[in-house]
Amino acid sequence: MNKQFDVVVVGGGPGGYVAAIRAAQLGLKTACIERESYADPKGEVRLGGTCLNVGCIPSKALLQSSELYDQANHAFVMHGIGVENVHVDVTTMVRRKDNIVNQLTAGIKSLFKKNKITLLSGHGRFVGHENDYWQVEVTSPAASEIVAAKNVIIATGSRPRHLEGVPVDNRIVCDNVGALSFDSVPQRLGVIGAGVIGLELGSVWKRLGADVTILEVLPDFLAVADPAVAKEAWKVFTQKQGLKIHLDVRIDKISASDKGVKVEYQIGDTSQTLECDRLIVSVGRVANTDGLGAEAVGLPIDDRGRVVVDEHCQTSLPGIWAVGDVVRGAMLAHKGMEEGVMVAELIAGQAGHVNYDAIPLVMYTHPEIAWVGKTEAELKKLGIEYRVGQMPFLANGRALGQGDTTGFVKMLADARTDRVLGVHIIGNNASELIAEAVVAMEFSASSEDIARICHAHPTLSEAMHEAALAVDKRSLHF
Ligand code: FAD
Ligand code: NAI
Repeated sequence: MNKQFDVVVVGGGPGGYVAAIRAAQLGLKTACIERESYADPKGEVRLGGTCLNVGCIPSKALLQSSELYDQANHAFVMHGIGVENVHVDVTTMVRRKDNIVNQLTAGIKSLFKKNKITLLSGHGRFVGHENDYWQVEVTSPAASEIVAAKNVIIATGSRPRHLEGVPVDNRIVCDNVGALSFDSVPQRLGVIGAGVIGLELGSVWKRLGADVTILEVLPDFLAVADPAVAKEAWKVFTQKQGLKIHLDVRIDKISASDKGVKVEYQIGDTSQTLECDRLIVSVGRVANTDGLGAEAVGLPIDDRGRVVVDEHCQTSLPGIWAVGDVVRGAMLAHKGMEEGVMVAELIAGQAGHVNYDAIPLVMYTHPEIAWVGKTEAELKKLGIEYRVGQMPFLANGRALGQGDTTGFVKMLADARTDRVLGVHIIGNNASELIAEAVVAMEFSASSEDIARICHAHPTLSEAMHEAALAVDKRSLHF
């Protein structure tokens, strides 16, 4: 007799492991299938998915280390602090990052034990449906078994999109995996794609001394961000920080050897060449649905390889759900986690829900960029009338004290109802500041609501307060 579960989750990333924990909390007999051991020294399967192993967590660890190095080199002096012979030991920096990853992935395994979740190591694949139970085969090099589940949550995530004819060896030509584990600072680093990974990891290696050139296909920089934020970011990244970013680029040919990479590309009618020691390819990610056995059970997959779901992450097959990067929407860890919770609660008969209008996005560059809700360009396109309030950090006492006054908070509110429609921040600690805007939007707050909340002084959060006041043209400090 096959092992039977109320819920089997396929994939142990943020979408999957959170779904499994919540399902177990709700009393459902739960298993989670994961196939990857990532860089586990013992070769054991690891939980945490892309995010913990080769994404959010390791990138933020390296961003922090490289930011400290950059500050020691460039910012300490204005505080009257002199430091000499500042140097980087990449091996220690990368080891620190690996230790954080080990700690967190082991932590998820303990959470599984605590919540009595069965971890099944291997590749999960649908093989059929019998007596109201989905049959899922779990295959590892050591063994293969079939488990049965009333509900299956697909949380198989995504993998980096590679360019056709450009093999990634994660040594010279790298995706996120190799780019998080360089053994030394490359002298010349090329990056294809000025998206989130290109800018975050480009920043890491630039701060550590690499000459970084980023090639982007689109004519507009950070086209997804609010135009004012994108404009400010462009100024800071290119003029102050020296990232070389070329837009409107068409890549013709990439040739790599042990010595480095040659990228031939065009901008308009001009052919150009970039020679670099290492190349990061960061041109987006694709959903992991290959080998899932979707065809065996008739599970619909869209033209981008994603599992088709409704707003509750339910597929057209009863008892099959899908969450995270493998479905439509932003490829963000917190979005996947919220979906995981929602689905577990719906399976348990509760009223799970995700508010897709209040999912924040953060880029951990310096300055950080964070937003929630609509951009000004989107509101214009939708024909919604709005008012704008903006507060620069230059007029914020805490920012001055910290010696970091780049950027602003910009608030967009409905011209008729004053409801907050979007908040856009570029500046130090934007990642933390955005939480207030998310709470406000979740509670359908007006800009006046935020303007009437007491914000501690002196804090960066006062810029949020002032931006809200500025919507009504009554800012006090600007
Ligand atoms: P994943 O994390 O991809 O996990 C899916 C898991 O399923 C994988 O471990 C995979 O091995 C397993 N799997 C796949 N198929 C099968 C199968 N058939 N059987 C068994 N197991 C299977 N997001 C943020 O919100 N903030 C950030 O700061 C951030 N930084 C990032 C930095 C980088 C460099 C990258 C690459 C991504 C970053 N992301 C960030 C995105 C984030 O990592 C993803 O959105 C998130 O990991 C998606 O979670 P998931 O559970 O859907 O999928
Ligand atoms: P992305 O979608 O953010 O950026 C890819 C960029 O590459 C785009 O600007 C695109 O126009 C460009 N591009 C595509 N094809 C190209 C080509 N042939 N030549 C030149 N440029 C090309 O994707 P990225 O950076 O790979 O990251 C993947 C996903 O991971 C993100 O979309 C995001 O969801 C997630 N992520 C989130 C982070 C965060 O939340 N802080 C950090 C890193 C990744």
